[in-house]
Amino acid sequence: MPQQFIARVVHADPVLPANTIVRLAVPAGVAAAAVPGQFLMLQSGGRDPLLPRPYSIMRATRAAREGGEEGTLDLLVFTGGRGGNHLAEARAGDPFPILGPLGNGYAIDGRMRRALLIAVGHGIAPIIALAESALARGVEVVMLVGAPTAASLLPLPLLPEEAEIIVATADGSRGHHGAVTDLVANYIEWTDAIYAYAPETTYVALRETLRGYRGARAIPPVQAAMERSMACGMGVCLGCVVETTSGLKTVCRDGPIFPLDALVLG
Ligand SMILES: Cc1cc2nc3c(=O)[nH]c(=O)nc-3n(C[C@H](O)[C@H](O)[C@H](O)COP(=O)(O)OP(=O)(O)OC[C@H]3O[C@@H](n4cnc5c(N)ncnc54)[C@H](O)[C@@H]3O)c2cc1C
Ligand code: FES
Repeated sequence: MPQQFIARVVHADPVLPANTIVRLAVPAGVAAAAVPGQFLMLQSGGRDPLLPRPYSIMRATRAAREGGEEGTLDLLVFTGGRGGNHLAEARAGDPFPILGPLGNGYAIDGRMRRALLIAVGHGIAPIIALAESALARGVEVVMLVGAPTAASLLPLPLLPEEAEIIVATADGSRGHHGAVTDLVANYIEWTDAIYAYAPETTYVALRETLRGYRGARAIPPVQAAMERSMACGMGVCLGCVVETTSGLKTVCRDGPIFPLDALVLG
């Protein structure tokens, strides 16, 4: 159940020129309820911007404290926009009104043994949450991480150390020179499931790669996150719909995670 609450900034640490990790103190129940792939609607800057902004949960933790428990949520914030800048420039103790956790989150099948995770851009935040959750259940995890350049990749120590990390950069400055989807064919027979958080162009390429597979193994199921600009985050304004094989669905309430097969992509 989503809750409305005031979160307080614990710290905001720049990790790249355009990325800051913001740790928020939240009610313990909120941290306990968060599922990888879920997000928060976060109101920043009073009336500018007027609408709250959606942010994925990168890490949720609970810790004992005198008289009870407290929770924290880490967000990876891309700066450059008004809301993102306001959040990244916050000081310890600053309050932010929040609604969340929202959306469905990724589903992890209890029988899964191997998972291929694909992250591009700020998709790395929920994919870190998913990797940590899967690793804690004993799942072997390979993460394919895509970025324009080496300079825009999160530092490796911020990624789960038990996961195998494979990098692709568009300019070839680190790892594979090209798209993450170029690497997927190597894992179709290895993985039980594919999880992705990436732009829709990546999903189109991923679907092509999977359709081109001619081996004996069944194609693994793919759960893919969609994004749309959001106003309410609760399925009320219908401003965030996407087309699926079973009609229009809201990204905020029906998603943001959908089976790749169900998405009607441009
Ligand atoms: C479910 C979901 C989870 C998200 N998780 C994260 C996250 O973990 N970290 C993060 O940095 N961002 C995340 N985003 C995107 C983030 O919400 C937008 O970048 C944000 O709304 C921009 O707000 P702003 O005020 O900083 O920028 P604005 O001044 O409003 O806009 C700055 C730029 O961001 C673009 N933008 C606006 N909305 C989106 C959007 N939904 N997706 C992509 N670009 C957008 C605008 O076109 C503009 O170019 C998420 C979006 C969704 C829908
Ligand atoms: S943001 Fe209002 S319905 Fe999704």
